[in-house]
Amino acid sequence: MTDRTHFGYQDVAREAKAGLVRDVFDNVAGRYDLMNDLMSAGVHRRWKDAALDWLAPQPHQHLLDVAGGTGDIAFRFLERGGGAVTVCDINEKMLAEGRRRANDQLLGDKAKWLVGDAERLPIPDRSVDVYSIAFGLRNVTNIELALAEAFRVLKIGGRFLCLEFSHVENAALAKVYEQFSFSVLPALGARVTGDREAYQYLVESIRRFPNQQDLADKLQAQGFENITVRNLSAGIAAMHSGWRL
Ligand SMILES: C[S@@+](CC[C@H](N)C(=O)[O-])C[C@H]1O[C@@H](n2cnc3c(N)ncnc32)[C@H](O)[C@@H]1O
Repeated sequence: MTDRTHFGYQDVAREAKAGLVRDVFDNVAGRYDLMNDLMSAGVHRRWKDAALDWLAPQPHQHLLDVAGGTGDIAFRFLERGGGAVTVCDINEKMLAEGRRRANDQLLGDKAKWLVGDAERLPIPDRSVDVYSIAFGLRNVTNIELALAEAFRVLKIGGRFLCLEFSHVENAALAKVYEQFSFSVLPALGARVTGDREAYQYLVESIRRFPNQQDLADKLQAQGFENITVRNLSAGIAAMHSGWRL
């Protein structure tokens, strides 16, 4: 493994990436939810609903939502009858926003908020029923390590679900999407959060992320079984499901 990695299109020291990613979300935490709605015209809500439709939460299940940020997946899991959630994120400010929303929604102690790195989860082996990661895997320094951790913490019979930006398979649509993301999103980010670079990083990191098949192969390499992929909005995003059997 080299001591360099990518941060969007920049080449950076491997040990610097987590800090750079933390800075991105420190800067935008207060306006993160608003920006998601503006950037996607609310479509990210439909994608998250689709992820929960697929997960079909059960009252006996404990979800670990990694890179859970302000809690969108966690809240949906509980609203749909899931038992309990632990939201784990490397960024305290994102979790603080989530905790504030949880108080607003009177969820009480069904949701726990934990600072931790997806590559070194502060969670015991084989202890959770469901592991989810939404728009988070793209940000970790070592995807393989994060997937190995997901496998480690899942109980036998447990389910993994990743929701992430992916690759548009139709060439004409891909071109339009490319133009939209590189011209509109950083400008919108600059206006709403005052941080153009954070949203430049977002679009670059999407382009660098493995495509649907490559991510499925990485899951298989970590031992996941019954891997299934579902595209959302023509592949702008995709969901990967796998099981620890
Ligand atoms: C785009 S946000 C997604 C938040 C939430 N899952 C959602 O869908 O709205 C990405 C989150 O990943 C977190 N993150 C980045 N690198 C991480 C890591 N190595 N371990 C845990 N969380 C990380 C960031 O702090 C941020 O909250």
